[in-house]
Amino acid sequence: MANSFSVIGTSIGKKVSMAMTGLFLCTFLVVHLVGNVSLLSDDGGLAFNAYTDFMRSNVLIRIMEIGLVVGFLGHIVFGYMVSIQNKGARPKSYSNLASQANNGWFARTMKWTGTLILIFLVIHLKSFWFEFGFGDPQVAQYGDAAYKDMYLIVKEAFSNWWYVLFYVVTMVFLAFHLNHGVQSGFRSLGLSDTKYRRILQSLGSVFAFVMGIGFALIPILMYVKHAS
Ligand code: HEM
Repeated sequence: MANSFSVIGTSIGKKVSMAMTGLFLCTFLVVHLVGNVSLLSDDGGLAFNAYTDFMRSNVLIRIMEIGLVVGFLGHIVFGYMVSIQNKGARPKSYSNLASQANNGWFARTMKWTGTLILIFLVIHLKSFWFEFGFGDPQVAQYGDAAYKDMYLIVKEAFSNWWYVLFYVVTMVFLAFHLNHGVQSGFRSLGLSDTKYRRILQSLGSVFAFVMGIGFALIPILMYVKHAS
């Protein structure tokens, strides 16, 4: 009888694994965006610093972070495997034909938009996550409460126009990636039969748009607010 590892090794197994990790990462994006909105509060960073302090000190969240790392690594590895497999397979595999008929350009550029997001992620984690954990951040005092000043690190990063531009451009690619990725993920999980195909396709596009605009607006608004 086939065990779960041999199923994952099959072509459909890799696509399903990519879909599951991808859709899991989408839930992370929603939580991350909602948390980041507190950067826009007019409170000297209190809400955002309290939020990052909670995220960093809560044991349950730390355990979930392991899932996040596994999710990202799995998605990247399966993504490249599927991409290599599609290239080496028949000139037009079923999934290629379906993708091209539906969403040609977005489908064909998934590998490149994914790679750009990966490069972004390395720079992003170095600037924020690493600085917070292993750098020497200042301490912000709010009455009796004291937090590592993550808000200041983000504010200083987004006071550089080129850094803001880097974020905005990457968020366009993130939106492109999600636009095809979400509906393709639903299809790999067998949720997208003809009846729901259009709805799930629209859902993917709306999600991509909201994430792209949401994540791009934060650096823009912070730049505008603090540049003057
Ligand atoms: C406006 C855009 C964004 C801002 C301001 C932002 C801000 C931050 C900050 C401050 C941290 C460090 C939090 C901590 O150390 O606890 C962080 C971590 C992280 N960010 Fe972002 N982020 C943005 C967009 C993104 C995007 C688009 C992705 C994914 C494609 C992403 C993925 C991550 C990951 C994986 C972590 C590490 C996990 C974590 O600590 O929660 N971020 N981000």
